Amino acid sequence: MAPSLSLLLICLLALYTPVTSKKECGRPSLGDGMDLEGLQRVYSPGDAVLLSCKRGYTPTSGSRTIICTASGHWTKSRLKCSTKSCSFPETLDHGDMELVDIVYQSTINYTCHEGYILQGASTIECLYDGQWSDPPPKCTPVICGLPPIPKYGKIVYDTKFTGNITVFGFGGTYECLPPLVLIGNERGSCSANGDWTEPPECKMVTCSAPTDIHNGFMTIHDKREYGFKETVRYGCNVDYVLDGPVEIECLKTGDWSIKPACRAPCKVGITRGRILYNERTFWIKDFEPNKILHAEVISVYCMNKEKKCGYAVSTQCIDGKLKIPECFEEPSDTLDDNSLPAEIAQC
Ligand SMILES: *[C@@H]1O[C@H](CO)[C@@H](O)[C@H](O)[C@H]1NC(C)=O
Ligand SMILES: *[C@@H]1O[C@H](CO)[C@@H](O)[C@H](O)[C@H]1NC(C)=O
Repeated sequence: MAPSLSLLLICLLALYTPVTSKKECGRPSLGDGMDLEGLQRVYSPGDAVLLSCKRGYTPTSGSRTIICTASGHWTKSRLKCSTKSCSFPETLDHGDMELVDIVYQSTINYTCHEGYILQGASTIECLYDGQWSDPPPKCTPVICGLPPIPKYGKIVYDTKFTGNITVFGFGGTYECLPPLVLIGNERGSCSANGDWTEPPECKMVTCSAPTDIHNGFMTIHDKREYGFKETVRYGCNVDYVLDGPVEIECLKTGDWSIKPACRAPCKVGITRGRILYNERTFWIKDFEPNKILHAEVISVYCMNKEKKCGYAVSTQCIDGKLKIPECFEEPSDTLDDNSLPAEIAQC
């Protein structure tokens, strides 16, 4: 046997022999967060070991020393190690924080709302000593310069203000020197990208001379150019009905608002029979003048041939057109008036 190998064997025996002959303790099992100095794996009866808590854990109670007994067991320790906590963070103005816990090794992520810039660490961590790794960050507003002012216009700030910088969200209302008209955004503010919103323009607005309408007239015959918000009124000739707004207005765009139209009256196109108009019946030959206005309704009488009874069917005048219902039959001259649909029993 080689001398080196025999030496190794002796060494192994020397290590092994005490374990079998005497009771020994193994490395004690450790609770959460507990620590033990050294890497020793085997202890003899009577050996004492001092337990401690790892970094980031706080000892809470009980004796910390355990002793290896003659039976090869460790005495009980009542030491408990609890995770260290950091202080609860303050909420972040104009921002949000994301956190799950505030114990050792927890992290908090911070973000700022639109228009705000994060100053400081965006992530902080709870350290072993119960302190946050960094102070909480702040969200500071985006800064803009002074707003652009349109020619012949001004801005009235929402709150009094001096200096030459503005902050995100700060704004005002634009105004134009009369009679110029503000075209665009009336409101302006410092936006998230550090620029002011697009300013409006101050423009002269004129609408071309208003035109007549068919079968109607302007109440004031003033054929000139009109300014913004000026109005013109219309009326209709006799028997014509105004359809639409009576007044038009010169708009910002330089166009007039929608003009009204004058709608024509209708003639009731039947030669015999009665009609029902405004809850009264008339023989058509007595209906003088034979005319109803736009949108008015009359009824003519039709015959139900199976039941031999009459019934009224209404129809409306639409801009000079009055459709006589298809069921209406123009009676022949030889037919007795008393047998017309309007005169017989009604269904
Ligand atoms: C913080 O952000 C990191 C990376 O996006 C993510 O892994 C982590 O879970 C976040 N922490 C919290 C507490 O949400
Ligand atoms: C603001 O005013 C200060 C002095 O009053 C000047 O130094 C600075 O350049 C100005 N900033 C802007 C954006 O006009």
